[in-house]
Amino acid sequence: MDISIKELFTRENFSKNDLIRLLQVEGEERTLLFQKSAEIKEKYIGNKVWFRGLIEFSNICGKDCLYCGIRKGNKNLVRYNLTDDEILAAAKFANENRYGSIALQSGELESPAVADRIENLLHKIKELSYGKLGITLSVGEQKPEVYLRWFDAGAHRYLLRVESTNKELYGKIHPKNEKHDFQRRLDCLKSLQYIGYQTGTGVMIGLPFQTLEDLAGDLLFMKNFDIDMCGMGPYIEHADTPLIQHADKLLPLNERFDLTLKMIAIIRIMMKDINIVAATALQAIDPIGREKAIKIGANIIMPNITPGRYRDSYRLYDNKPCTDDSAEDCQSCLEARVSLADAEVIYGEWGDSKHYDERRKGLTVQRRNGKKK
Ligand code: 5AD
Ligand code: FES
Repeated sequence: MDISIKELFTRENFSKNDLIRLLQVEGEERTLLFQKSAEIKEKYIGNKVWFRGLIEFSNICGKDCLYCGIRKGNKNLVRYNLTDDEILAAAKFANENRYGSIALQSGELESPAVADRIENLLHKIKELSYGKLGITLSVGEQKPEVYLRWFDAGAHRYLLRVESTNKELYGKIHPKNEKHDFQRRLDCLKSLQYIGYQTGTGVMIGLPFQTLEDLAGDLLFMKNFDIDMCGMGPYIEHADTPLIQHADKLLPLNERFDLTLKMIAIIRIMMKDINIVAATALQAIDPIGREKAIKIGANIIMPNITPGRYRDSYRLYDNKPCTDDSAEDCQSCLEARVSLADAEVIYGEWGDSKHYDERRKGLTVQRRNGKKK
């Protein structure tokens, strides 16, 4: 007979088969899974949520990922690039409203001009907030020396989703060329971690061709890599992307949603003290999708503080929510939503990954004892 789910929870480490089993739970067992992950969140993190004010500062992208609405090849889209002043005004808004942190996100571009610009912005944001605003970057693959410059300029967290850790599946959802190289993505993650960033990654859930085994592999990857932050969400098709041709192979939206909640619950059980984002894409499927994620394990929300007129153009997938709102609207809406999930927004704190602190302590001890990293 199958091992009971309660027995499974007593294991220190899950095997791939355990994870596949957990991804398939239904009914009573599904309730037990979510109860367990909620308990762990309460114990290790508390019923708390921290904000990262999200500034989607440009939708110009040098890459052509087959799933993404802002891919270079999509011509049905007005491209924008906020001015430095607009970005700084958004950061100021976050600071004045005591969001502990912001996240700067854009399409992926690599150039000396981009490296200089972001470095300069980081200095200015630190200056305007007297060092108070925490900063997460999410601007894709870059050279290690660029990551290092940005770290020195004050960015301390970096989100780079690996999208899928199955190399073959990665190959199916990206063009086959050196700009979309699986190994480079992994190398970038490694250099971010090595430099000292709180390092975050994640995957899309419910991609065409993706199996439960792939998702179990993704969970094991995140655990083995020892990530500090996790951001994963359901894949949602976009009409103007090549992957739309495989729309007939997709799970129904409600199943992709359910699988995402299970992935969040399981990673919370596997990695008790990491930061987990309640992804906006969850809300594209279920109006209270993010609240559901908070209840079962997520502890980070990214209210959009991009100036309203640009938001519609940062359309990664169809039906992206909140594209008409202003920053103020997003804040009050999210605050109400978080309290619906019986959690509390913590203002004025960075809300760093506890896992990172523990990991760094471990590293220091290892180095002191003369062990290699
Ligand atoms: N559906 C869901 N998520 C998407 N992303 C890009 N396109 C889609 C889509 N069609 C996600 C990717 C990327 C993040 C910024 O948005 O995971 O890393
Ligand atoms: Fe822009 Fe993938 S399309 S990074």
